[in-house]
Order: sequence, then structure tokens, then C-alpha cells
Amino acid sequence: MEYSRMEKEQLQERLAQMQQAYNAYAQMHLTLNMARGKPETRQLDLSDGLFTALQAGDAMKGADNMDVRNYGVLTGLAEAKALFADLLGVRKENVIIGGASSLNLMFDYISQCMTHGVCGHAPWFGQKIKFLCPVPGYDRHFGILEYFGIEMIGIDMDESGPDMDAIESWVQDPQVKGMFCVPKYSNPGGVTFSAQTVDRIAKLQPAAKDFRIIWDNAYGIHDFSDTPDTLTEIFSACEKYGTEDHIIEVASFAKVTFPGSCISCIVASDNNLAQIERRMSFQIINQDKVSQLRHINFFKDADGVRAHMRRQAEILRPKFETVLRNFSEKLDGKGIAKWTKPNGGYFVSLDVLDGCAKRVVELCKQCGLVLTGAGATYPYGKDPRDRNIRIAPTFPSTAELQQAMDVLCVCIEIACIEKLLSA
Ligand SMILES: Cc1ncc(COP(=O)(O)O)c(C=O)c1O
Repeated sequence: MEYSRMEKEQLQERLAQMQQAYNAYAQMHLTLNMARGKPETRQLDLSDGLFTALQAGDAMKGADNMDVRNYGVLTGLAEAKALFADLLGVRKENVIIGGASSLNLMFDYISQCMTHGVCGHAPWFGQKIKFLCPVPGYDRHFGILEYFGIEMIGIDMDESGPDMDAIESWVQDPQVKGMFCVPKYSNPGGVTFSAQTVDRIAKLQPAAKDFRIIWDNAYGIHDFSDTPDTLTEIFSACEKYGTEDHIIEVASFAKVTFPGSCISCIVASDNNLAQIERRMSFQIINQDKVSQLRHINFFKDADGVRAHMRRQAEILRPKFETVLRNFSEKLDGKGIAKWTKPNGGYFVSLDVLDGCAKRVVELCKQCGLVLTGAGATYPYGKDPRDRNIRIAPTFPSTAELQQAMDVLCVCIEIACIEKLLSA
């Protein structure tokens, strides 16, 4: 029965039961963490072959015939470009290989727009700039925008992607210079933009001539279900409308091999790439080609990466199943929470009753379970309805995850019943 339809006495009784369960967990002095989307040790072990994929005495050259141990090849080894191009379905000529982090590529790109402008347009610095931010979204995207003083406008998401009516209307404002988005298995909703959404994004005719979308394809190959989502390739969609310049795509092997010690890429039109490459030529002589060659030797080709991702999925699938089973067994039908059911990626997005997310996170913390801070999935850390919580189930062991879900569901009940009783 929906809790909102229950009598006060029934709710009080349920609250007392949940408080008893909570006190029992509190006495266990738990130290559980579902805060950040990090792979667990078994996932990292899958990539230990990287340590032997390039050893003293091996050929130290790729197709470019440049010694990877030495300076040179600013934009990355040809094989690394071909690998990302194959995985993302883009032209290898439009790929530049980055360092160990795609976040770094995004930060540098926005920084470049601030100081030098976009392809001949005025620098953004000193102008009033706004960016569209599909919500709930990735806190580090919001962090970059906040760092540069760019105003963020939240755009609601549903199961087909961001609200395109709102986006089409906002881009009429010349101060709106761009958008950050995660088009496949979004962080945290696990949403993949529908073909229609991608087409409408490709078709946008913004008032700002220097409008750019950061297409953060962080989870493009992170399927864990037998029925994976498919994402329409954005540059092909844009070709129809001549809007390729709007898109700056990034991706990395952070959740493929070792986060923080992997390879990344930026994909863009010829115009954008020329500007990015020029800036990079002042920033660095070359990225870590040793790491690039290690990755190439380890995977051989895109099929090698896909096979590796199937092994990752074997580890991840049961964890997501645990989360969804617990939510469904403990919360279904109570009308106090709803959650996403992703086919890939790293997160589940949970919405509790309005005004309850902070309380849930606080209750969990007092019981030894750390969650991503309430509000983190919204610009400025402010969830206007205080209802969204990002669930990151990958890092804890299966046993820890079960315990964390037990605690979380009790805390959700307590916070939501308290709210209903106070209404
Ligand atoms: C959407 C998204 N983009 C980027 C990153 C970070 O990627 P990288 O380690 O390549 O900087 C993450 C990590 O959680 C992410 O969720």
C-alpha cells in the first residue's frame, strides 16, 4: 500500500520498526561506501596484462615508426586513434589521443574557449556565458563550469534524454554557449539518448555562433545487459545538418582499464581539431605514448576491447541486480521512491520523496554508509526538490553491497515516513 494513503498510526508503527532496524545497524559500526563510481579490484585485475604488454626488448615503435620512449607524435599513435575511432564509430582522422583523463580534456577545452574563444569568435572570458546541464548529471562537469564562472541551467532528463523542447528554446538565447552531456548510460541515470533526441541535438540552430556541446561518451562501451542500448553516432547525425562543429566528443579507458592511468581521446570536426591541436602544441610535446602502446598491445583491436568489456560486465551485472532486487523487494508499491534500471554504465539514479534526499544521506552516514552527497547531481550542488541520490554500486564487494542496500532502504523509509508524518 502507498504510504501516503496510510493512517497516521500505521505510519508511526512502521517508523518504530524501521528505527529499531536502524539502531541495530548503527551498533554494527559499519564502514560502507557507495559514493564514487570506481571499479572494484577484480575489475582492475582484468587489466593487469597491461604491465607485461610492453617490456624491455619489445618493439618500442608503432605504425608511425617513432620510438614511444622518446618525444614526438603530439596527437597520438595511429593505432590508438584507429582503436577509439572503431569503438566510437568516428573517422580516425578526427581523433586526438589525450592523457590519462577525459575530464582533463574537457577542462582544457573550456579553458581554451575562455581565453581564446571558439574558432575565431571572441573569448568567453568577460562575457556572460550560460551552459545547459541535463539533470541529474555529473558533478565534475558542473565543477568545471562553476570554476570558470559559467552560469548553469538545469534541463530535466527523462528516459529518452534531456528535455529537447527546453533545449530548443534555450539555445535562442545568444548567451547560451553550450551544453555538457553524457549521451549513453548517463551519470547518474543510466539514460541513453534516443535516436530522435540525438537527431534534434544535431539539428539545433543556436543563436550563439560559437555554441559547443561537450559530448562526454564516458560509458559508450559499458554495456552489462544482454539487451544493450544503442546510441546514434552524433557526427553522422550532424552531417545531415552541417552542424559537426557543434560537437566536442570525449571518451577514455578510465572504466575499461585503470582510472587515472589509461588513455583518452577527443573527437571533433576538422575546424575544431585544428584549434585544439594548435593549443596542445604549446601545452605538451606529446602524451604518454608508452601507455598508448601498452594499451594497443594488450587489446590488439576493438574486438579485444569489446571482449574485455564483456568480462567487466560479468562482474558488474550481479551488483546492479543486487541494487535493483533490493529496491524492488523493499520499496516497490510504497510510493516513496523510484529508481532507474540501466543496461550499462556505473550508476543507478534514485529519487525519494521531495525534501528527503539530504535526510537519507545523513541517516546513512550516521550508520557508517557513505553515499554521494545529496544535491551533487545538480548544478551548484542544489537539487531544487532535494530528492535525487546517486547510487554507485561498483566498488563494494557483493556482501558489502547487500549490507549497504539494507541500510539504505531502512534510511529511505525513515526519512520518507518522517516527512509524511510532518505534512
Ligand atoms: C560522465 C563521466 N565523464 C568523465 C569521467 C571521468 O573520466 P576520466 O577518468 O577519463 O577523466 C567520469 C568518471 O566518473 C564520468 O562519470
